[in-house]
Amino acid sequence: MPAKLAQKSHKPDPVSDLWPGQSVALLKALHILTHNGGLNADSRRKLKQVQHLARLVKPAIDAALAERDLKGEEGPVLADLGAGKSYLGFILYDLYFGPAGRGRVVAVESRSELVATARKIAAESGFDRMDFVEGTIARAAMGAVDIVTALHACDTASDEAILFALKHEAKYVALVPCCQAEVAKELEEVKGPLAQLWRHPIQRREFGAHLSNVLRALYLEAHGYRVRVTELTGLEHSLKNEFIYAERHQRSNPRARAEFEKLAAETGAAPKLLTF
Ligand SMILES: C[S@@+](CC[C@H](N)C(=O)[O-])C[C@H]1O[C@@H](n2cnc3c(N)ncnc32)[C@H](O)[C@@H]1O
Repeated sequence: MPAKLAQKSHKPDPVSDLWPGQSVALLKALHILTHNGGLNADSRRKLKQVQHLARLVKPAIDAALAERDLKGEEGPVLADLGAGKSYLGFILYDLYFGPAGRGRVVAVESRSELVATARKIAAESGFDRMDFVEGTIARAAMGAVDIVTALHACDTASDEAILFALKHEAKYVALVPCCQAEVAKELEEVKGPLAQLWRHPIQRREFGAHLSNVLRALYLEAHGYRVRVTELTGLEHSLKNEFIYAERHQRSNPRARAEFEKLAAETGAAPKLLTF
């Protein structure tokens, strides 16, 4: 297809693409909408993913607002980790935190140029309860955090996000992991009958990503979270589509920890950061 046609953008359909009350000026500043209000195929996909996630995270934001209210505290705080251009943080602020009139969104991102642009857009948008931390998720430290989100944080960054959630005692965690290479690499060295499951590189990559997500969910359960794993959007919107949602309801779960350890021992591989 000629490049010009492939790049063609069309006006967003206000019913299916944009949500009521959603800021068109913000979507233009984020380059999701073009300056004349168009939407190309890539931005439509990204917008859909972020809006799906925003919808799935809304109950956690509502609950955290009510919980903080009950305690007479400020907040809640949502940390978006591996934030990239902070599409998710901006849209959550625009749709929920802005109208609520309280709460903070903190975006953590290692690429300084993305942080600089996002800070500028937040200032221009008057989003004064949005903060940006430049650096790795593993090193990020802040006060109490209620909700952790990580959309397509690369490779082991989703594991860093889990450890961040535990360190900051976040009650709600929403992860959509991205590619996972670490466990596939470990599987290369594993021999035995199960190795047939990941003999070919494509299967090793897929199985490695699957095993990582299964162990991530068990690790969260072992730390007292109730976990649900579903899909984020249709596969036409993203191949990295597994949505791991966790809500903490107890301090720990020894049965889930035993299951984690048994599975890691039987397959001979596990994300290195997820230790007990
Ligand atoms: C695939 S992008 C996704 C960005 C954004 N969450 C989204 O969905 O639009 C992953 C982002 O995570 C950042 N990143 C990867 N590993 C990180 C880490 N350990 N700490 C902080 N940021 C990280 C990358 O720089 C990149 O911007």
